[in-house]
Amino acid sequence: MKFLLGSFALLSGTTTTAFSPVQSNTNVIRSPSQLAASGGKMSVRPIGIGSAAPSTLITNIDLESVHDTSDEWIQTRTGISERRVLVHDGTRSVIHASADGTKVDSEVNENLRTLGIEAAKDALAMSGISASDIDLVICATSSPDDLFGDAPSIAHAIGCDSSKCAAFDLTAACSGFLFGIITAAQFLNGQGNGAKNALVLGADALTRWVDWEDRNSCILFGEGAGAMVLKSSGDFAEPDSDEEYGILGYAMHSNGGGYMDLKCNYRGEPKKISTPGEGIVVHDGSYDMMTMNGRKVYSFATREVPTVLDEALKQAGISVEEVDHLLLHQANIRIMETVANRLGIPMEKVITNLYKYGNTSAASIPLALDEAVRTGRVKKGDVIACAGFGAGLSWGAAILKWG
Ligand code: COA
Repeated sequence: MKFLLGSFALLSGTTTTAFSPVQSNTNVIRSPSQLAASGGKMSVRPIGIGSAAPSTLITNIDLESVHDTSDEWIQTRTGISERRVLVHDGTRSVIHASADGTKVDSEVNENLRTLGIEAAKDALAMSGISASDIDLVICATSSPDDLFGDAPSIAHAIGCDSSKCAAFDLTAACSGFLFGIITAAQFLNGQGNGAKNALVLGADALTRWVDWEDRNSCILFGEGAGAMVLKSSGDFAEPDSDEEYGILGYAMHSNGGGYMDLKCNYRGEPKKISTPGEGIVVHDGSYDMMTMNGRKVYSFATREVPTVLDEALKQAGISVEEVDHLLLHQANIRIMETVANRLGIPMEKVITNLYKYGNTSAASIPLALDEAVRTGRVKKGDVIACAGFGAGLSWGAAILKWG
């Protein structure tokens, strides 16, 4: 992977170890064991966006029957009104390639992959790029249908050409989509990499891992999928235009020091294998339910997100006043208000659809952007300051010029 216009650094105490610095940057040292990468303009354009959500709805009123909670409490403390959940018995239409190469349309149970396929098809249709011209598919998810990865099967289902397209999953929790587009851009940026078009998905079904006994966390999450098509522009601008589109600046961080604040650990049941002698105890696989320290995550987000946005804006050479839209990971409306306030961005510029989807983890940014583009709120040439944050702990920002 090339970091043509950025740098990748392990920050340890006061020492910065740069692995492949090409251009110096303004990384801020915050704490030991923090990883960071940041950089300026990349010659890649976001040209298509799509999304999908499950058909089953759970409202706050529904949750009043499950917990000692209220619609009023949830709306006031989070901004969420309802969320969509995968119940796995709904059906969706999916077109598969058969063994002889012909396309077969079949009804399949709704799952994370079917949502991803629908979102990907919408994004491709908007971009005008054929699936067979996609070189790279990244699926950002922490809750795949298949632990080994959903990206290859999604790529196959939408008709990507397996002789030229590489597909893999990326796990960075709620920062996953942001990290995914920055990763894809490393392959598309500049001349000579060969990759021309990438599809980045953010798809999550965290209610699979939510503790439904915990009223603190179960009210927050919902499922969804979003997808973006990114095109290498070879140069920063279209030949006939002075405008610069694409990723103008970015920054990514993680700090495992906060890992305990939001986690979903492996927990297997012991199982004896009768090998010769005493035998060996292995573990059948599953994961524990998610645990979260809400207050700590809240203060982490409101502390780090304004800083990382500032860092990405500096990398982009863009002032706060030039930002047309602020698009944050849709976790809590109070986090969005605090971040906007700290940056001096009015709430009218904040894109949100949190109230109807809840926190959809890696899907939340493309799910909200898709709606904003399709309703005409985001127009070609608009500058969108995006930030993701979540478990890891991880957080990042990218400044996009849409179109
Ligand atoms: N309904 C009613 N009361 C609830 C409740 C619910 N669903 N969940 C918690 N409470 C109660 C608490 O038990 C507490 O009661 P107490 O004062 O009697 O002890 C009270 O409400 C206040 O709890 P507190 O934790 O201070 O609430 P809060 O204002 O911090 O809101 C969160 C809780 C979880 C909504 C908030 O901390 C948050 O959004 N954190 C970030 C979480 C997040 O975004 N995670 C994903 C990141 S990707």
